[in-house]
Amino acid sequence: MALSELPPPIDDTGDAGAEPPLVRVPPPGSMSKAWLARLQGVDAPWTAARRERRAAISGLDESPIVLVSAKGSNIADLDGNRYVDFVAAFGAALLGHGATRVARTLEMQSERLVFGLGDVYPSDSKIALTERLARLFPEAGARVMLGLSGSDAMDAAMKTSLLATGRPGIVAFEGGYHGLATGPLAMNGLRAEYRAPFAPHLSPHVRFAPFARRESELDAALSAVDALAKSGEIGAIVVEPILGRGGVHIPPAGFLGGLREIATRTGALLVADEIWTGLGRSGAILRSVEDGVIPDLVCLGKGLGGGMPISACVGKGEVMEAWRNPKGVSPELAEAGLHGEAIHTATHFGNPLACACAIAVLDSIFGQKLHVRAKDEGEVFLGMLREACGPETKVREIRGKGLMLGIEVEGGPARGLGLVRDLMMTGWLVLTGGAGDVITLTPPLNMPRKLMEAFTERFAQLAAMRAL
Ligand SMILES: Cc1ncc(COP(=O)(O)O)c(C=O)c1O
Repeated sequence: MALSELPPPIDDTGDAGAEPPLVRVPPPGSMSKAWLARLQGVDAPWTAARRERRAAISGLDESPIVLVSAKGSNIADLDGNRYVDFVAAFGAALLGHGATRVARTLEMQSERLVFGLGDVYPSDSKIALTERLARLFPEAGARVMLGLSGSDAMDAAMKTSLLATGRPGIVAFEGGYHGLATGPLAMNGLRAEYRAPFAPHLSPHVRFAPFARRESELDAALSAVDALAKSGEIGAIVVEPILGRGGVHIPPAGFLGGLREIATRTGALLVADEIWTGLGRSGAILRSVEDGVIPDLVCLGKGLGGGMPISACVGKGEVMEAWRNPKGVSPELAEAGLHGEAIHTATHFGNPLACACAIAVLDSIFGQKLHVRAKDEGEVFLGMLREACGPETKVREIRGKGLMLGIEVEGGPARGLGLVRDLMMTGWLVLTGGAGDVITLTPPLNMPRKLMEAFTERFAQLAAMRAL
């Protein structure tokens, strides 16, 4: 398609990207509908099938709006409607949309060097970024493996744990989500339907344990992990420090520490999937470390590249050493496979544009202390929501850490999806998590408080109306 065919961006997002919603035509408007019809003619049909299924659950038209421009906390659709974004690219737009520092970096780096040469000839931006990422790890000597997506980072963690322990077994958690590429899909505990169609391709060595969502579940969850790990076949315990897509569940104190203890005692690695929680989202650069636990491997992704696809698996030096001296691999294979060939690479791993942007993102987060702001503003937001949502709103629980919040509503997925639609129609973008009954909120870490206040008021109104 010729670029000239694209409509010009709607300059309606306000200078600061801190404007309230402005709904000019009921979404989706005619432009969005027309472009959606084009998409439906060419897109793999799973997206339409998903919409139809959601419509069957909610009883509503689930047609999407088509996005065209964004700035800060605002997004505009093709019909000139302005929204406030509480999704922020599935939590990835940590700095908001169109962050100037990232845009300038992209421009500068695209004039310097666009393509890298992976493991053969590294670029200066890749070297500078890997140094920065290694320093995020709480112990000296950490090593880094870059990827393009969260799934890639999880793949790297799975491979590393196999090389480091010689054991294929993995303990993952019910409700967990680690990406949908074939490797991490095997660890998807969110819903069996993600795994089922692809079961023949998935690792048969993954076992699931309950994720402790509250104090009363702690002992049973840890005992289940312990029983699995004691078999001696488990090479990795893979956990989200806060269950994200599973519905924003914060484990009780002692859960992560308990997993650390089991992993150490049984010779397994503890892998913290911080793809959602990390880099400030949950009010800390690394949630696991903030909670007093040092994992063997930490996976980062989502917001790392400021919109450029990049992820990282960062690990203890002695664990990563397995890429030189793997366990459980015959010396001949190790020599032929590990030393002779690049057995873990991809054309765009370490892409200079993405690496340069990731450095800009880290500079912005640390420079503006966005992780600290997320912690403080998250507490305020949580307090506001709890106060505003009385019994008339039929809200079951509101929880969160930093700017990663979940509002669990009564009425199951039908009501959850209904609220998402009500909010969208009035200019507020949110998603559901868990079983579809949790409204998840992951705004930019710099979203102005006034937008969170306005959202709180609107949400409480809409939730009360939908409760009638
Ligand atoms: C905790 C967690 N891990 C991994 C992933 C997968 O990341 P990606 O979609 O970039 O592959 C996600 C995505 O939502 C996630 O939330």
